[in-house]
Amino acid sequence: MSLLLIELTLLVENHLRAFSTPHSAPQPRSPHSKLHPKVQFNTQTFPLDIVHSHRIVAHKLQIQPPIMSLEVYPASPADAPELTQLFYATFRSGLDTTMFPNTPDVTEWWENAFSADITRSIARETNDLFLKVAEGSESGPVVAFAKWKRPVSAADRDRHEEQIVWPASSDKELCDRFFVDMEARHEKWMGERPHYYLDMLGVHPSYQGKGLGSKLLKWGLTRADAEGVEVYLSASPAGRPLYAKYGFKEVDTFSPYPNYVQVGMIRSPNAQ
Ligand SMILES: CC(C)(COP(=O)(O)OP(=O)(O)OC[C@H]1O[C@@H](n2cnc3c(N)ncnc32)[C@H](O)[C@@H]1OP(=O)(O)O)[C@@H](O)C(=O)NCCC(=O)NCCS
Repeated sequence: MSLLLIELTLLVENHLRAFSTPHSAPQPRSPHSKLHPKVQFNTQTFPLDIVHSHRIVAHKLQIQPPIMSLEVYPASPADAPELTQLFYATFRSGLDTTMFPNTPDVTEWWENAFSADITRSIARETNDLFLKVAEGSESGPVVAFAKWKRPVSAADRDRHEEQIVWPASSDKELCDRFFVDMEARHEKWMGERPHYYLDMLGVHPSYQGKGLGSKLLKWGLTRADAEGVEVYLSASPAGRPLYAKYGFKEVDTFSPYPNYVQVGMIRSPNAQ
């Protein structure tokens, strides 16, 4: 075999090794354990000079790791456990972890809440819409999610909201204070005006800064613009710059937790 052929064989072998799973074990679907596979050159298996020429061949042939798609899909009730883990990975401020520490009872609470809310939204019993970004295909790992509320009719508005029972490990007083305050401000600013409401948006830390937050945000903005209605949201400190970029204006602020400022924001139709 020529040197080039040997190098190519090594390259392909190493490439396959980098992407294969030992003993054909099923791939975990959690975004914590995987993703962004990179071709790693194992210098214990290959002497450095071979590794070096290996890299040159890879460079010359411009071999790249496969690029996985990151598309928006409707979430399903079966996604509830993954959405819960994504929630923990994404919402990590002191406010978030005090309201929802990563404990078995909070995990069960979120899994039940996601599953029930998604089921009701699919049955059109609510105006909620749950979206996910999955990697590779619809059944791939969930790396981002959003919960939108479509414009609410007068009948829906009058529907009695059920009392939320927080999980045992949550700081219930903080949960009540935060969510009641947030909803009161929502009501104060939007009243009866029809509008889209972005209730939740989270992107796994490993996937932030790649446009996924924008993608999930634009899903609602496009519809609001087409229908000529406003969009309201209550922004975390992390979300604020993203929303400002897409034309949201700050209308009020409150501090539910030390060193944490939540901001009410409204976007007029077609605002840039
Ligand atoms: C906020 C969040 C959803 C943004 O998602 P993302 O996928 O990283 O956002 P994008 O990649 O689409 O960023 C779009 C733009 O927003 C801006 N932006 C996003 N996060 C920013 C930050 N932390 N600081 C400054 N600008 C930021 C950037 O200007 C970026 O524009 P650019 O591409 O021109 O630089 C993500 O950081 C997140 O999940 N944070 C934790 C959970 C949270 O607080 N969610 C918001 C609840 S209201």
